[in-house]
Amino acid sequence: MANRPSNDPRTVAVVGATGAVGEVVLRLLAERDFPVGELRALASERSAGRTVAFAGRDVVVQEARPEAFDGVDFAFFAATGSLSKTLAPEVAKRGGIAIDKSNTWRLNDEVPLVVPEINPDALEKHKGIVACPNCTTIGFVMALEPLHREAGVKSVVVTTLQAVSGSGKPGIEELTRQKAEIDRGEAPTPDFYPIPIADNALPLCESFREDGYSTEEIKLLNETRKIMSAPQMDVSMTCVRVPVPIGHSATLLVETERTISPERAREVLSAFPGVEVMDDPSENVFPTAMDVSGRDEVLVGRVRKDLASDRLWLWQVSDNLRKGAATNAIQIAEEMIRRGLK
Ligand SMILES: NC(=O)c1ccc[n+]([C@@H]2O[C@H](COP(=O)([O-])OP(=O)(O)OC[C@H]3O[C@@H](n4cnc5c(N)ncnc54)[C@H](OP(=O)(O)O)[C@@H]3O)[C@@H](O)[C@H]2O)c1
Repeated sequence: MANRPSNDPRTVAVVGATGAVGEVVLRLLAERDFPVGELRALASERSAGRTVAFAGRDVVVQEARPEAFDGVDFAFFAATGSLSKTLAPEVAKRGGIAIDKSNTWRLNDEVPLVVPEINPDALEKHKGIVACPNCTTIGFVMALEPLHREAGVKSVVVTTLQAVSGSGKPGIEELTRQKAEIDRGEAPTPDFYPIPIADNALPLCESFREDGYSTEEIKLLNETRKIMSAPQMDVSMTCVRVPVPIGHSATLLVETERTISPERAREVLSAFPGVEVMDDPSENVFPTAMDVSGRDEVLVGRVRKDLASDRLWLWQVSDNLRKGAATNAIQIAEEMIRRGLK
């Protein structure tokens, strides 16, 4: 059968269209000229009847139910894990492709977990569901993969500094409210996070497990190994929530099989699609969350040799709502169209 033309309009559903990621998916579908024919904006019963903006018009939100996926080519899921668990198979059953931003399917052997610059071939084996990695993992693997291809990454020690929008709208609202409380001379009151996030840094992203690691930290380990096909790679991590609206930062200490100089590391990082190096200490040039907010590239700086070993230090930032979520999900759909998979 001949491939469907790539510009043939697709029927697209956005699940969680009223949320932090869903809003960016809607914006980027239009911005990237994705071939959208019909657009279905889906959310919970609470939002049914509201409108969301898409390509200069208002689209009425419907409740996300199985029937809403009849005839859908691509469904972008940016809601809850439990919703993805029940509804993504409904999309696949109807012949569509569910691209899921939740944690639900990422480690399932039957489901590709994809960053298109790194492992696009995994898409060929899809069975109607494709998982998009965690927002922290995406920036992390984008910085690691070029070094891995050049010198073989053995181990990484990483500390992340994660924006509140990584927790969705409740995180953004909590920081905004607590900043206003502080401005009024009041104590910030925690609600969504257990401890005040304004004027603070919390070494807790999501929730703690019995072994003392946070669930976010374990995602970083397992997802990295799957995406990079590196089951032996050691990842030692601490994930920290910081009072930044958008943009996850991370400091990485990378051990490689073969020694790689900072100069060569900058070269291979710069040559990798979707990565940009901003690194000139003499001019105080390094990337920050503010620099990356609103951009799709992963920015890397502070590349330097460790003083105590042959390892390399890097600083990496990415927009958690764009490359960490919406952009990566849309790139997956674009790649599937390019490959004639939809
Ligand atoms: N924020 C990030 O940086 C980021 C990055 C990567 C992945 N993710 C993942 O993306 C997903 C969405 O995150 P977010 O940050 O956008 O969260 P959010 O701002 O809290 O938005 C959640 C969305 O899910 C919808 N929803 C909640 N319960 C629902 C239900 N029972 N049925 C249908 N829709 C329901 C909400 O609709 P209502 O308005 O109707 O409640 C809202 O549209 C999560 O799985 C998250 O882990 C987020």
